[in-house]
Amino acid sequence: MNRPIKILFVDDDINVLNGLRRMLHKMREQWEMEFVTGALDALKVLKQSAYDIVVSDLRMPDMNGVELLEKVRQRYPDTIRFMLSGYSDQPLQGQAARCVHQFISKPCDAELLQSLIHRAFQLNDRLRSKEAAKVLSNISSLPVMSDTYKEVIDVLSSPDCSPRKVGKMIARDIGMSAKILQLVNSAFYGSGSKIADPVHAVVYLGLKTVEALVLTSGIFSKLPEKRMQEFSVDALQEHCCRVGSLAKTICKSRQMTQEDMDMASMAGILHDTGKIVFISRFPKELTEAIRLSRHRQVPLYEVERELLDVTHAELGGGLLDLWGLPNTIIEAATYHHEYPDSLDDGFSVISAVRIANMIDHELCCGLADGFAPPLEAALLEKLGVADQREQWRSLHLRIEAEEHEYVA
Ligand SMILES: [Fe+2]
Ligand SMILES: [Fe+2]
Repeated sequence: MNRPIKILFVDDDINVLNGLRRMLHKMREQWEMEFVTGALDALKVLKQSAYDIVVSDLRMPDMNGVELLEKVRQRYPDTIRFMLSGYSDQPLQGQAARCVHQFISKPCDAELLQSLIHRAFQLNDRLRSKEAAKVLSNISSLPVMSDTYKEVIDVLSSPDCSPRKVGKMIARDIGMSAKILQLVNSAFYGSGSKIADPVHAVVYLGLKTVEALVLTSGIFSKLPEKRMQEFSVDALQEHCCRVGSLAKTICKSRQMTQEDMDMASMAGILHDTGKIVFISRFPKELTEAIRLSRHRQVPLYEVERELLDVTHAELGGGLLDLWGLPNTIIEAATYHHEYPDSLDDGFSVISAVRIANMIDHELCCGLADGFAPPLEAALLEKLGVADQREQWRSLHLRIEAEEHEYVA
């Protein structure tokens, strides 16, 4: 983008706004910034002029940040939405999860804000300037969230959310309960003893993993069976679950936080969501892409770009963005095959998903898919994790062997 980025800052505390203004003074060449002291003023300003990003405080008297950003999401869906919030705002953050791209904890420092804005723009450019936006806006029936998912999301966003409530809701949907119980009892999640109750399953798996599973089982179940001869939908779903599980294990072995592990699990399960769009809307093109990818021994996403001008990774990221999932999940899906060098931030949830996906493609030949390049040694070197390659591969092989034993 050549023009300056337009950013609107909203906070009821004039001192906070003045602090931000001072802190970000050096960015005035690249950013066109406006500061307003309330949500109502923000809506007026937005009506007069388009903004690229709105950065809003959470607690404000006339209208809180959640209500403001929800309105921004509905009226200006292309505007990126950031929320500044403190530790004590955690209960409200749950409600905001669906309308906020990025939470920034207060007090925020200029460098962090700069890097988050840069990242969000890079992702936005990738998702919107390409064919992904065209494909997503042109297809009349996108895979929709299942009713159970919507209900679960409502419960997850409510202040009194508990695994018991979510588990009970899942228990009402027989297909979904079966899927989740099958997963929690599989060797991938290593529960050891048999779990037969969805409430226990939710407690065991954690809310983020369950949210992703509910979402994918909803969209997978909407696919007509035997849509494609070349492609096994079941195998894809199993691949996604394995990648979620392995990505979480990788984060654990790197001693990353519980939040990172939860995000990795969710992002792994959702990373190939774009393939579901291809299966449901472009089955012929996908079949041809798989054939060419195998024949030429080039990665599937390269052939997809050649045939459809867009990759399943970009399309999946776009869809998850439309569904309002957190930025880390959208980034992990969008960049699971190609990671821009400019976003070099060391080992992250995105790297864990990318590596887990490569290991699974390399070791599980059962996945009827295009050619999968082997795990790049250079990538692992760059991330400083080359010494863990064998550990992760053998972990995956062991889990997979146990999985087969269990199924048998
Ligand atoms: Fe993929
Ligand atoms: Fe994949």
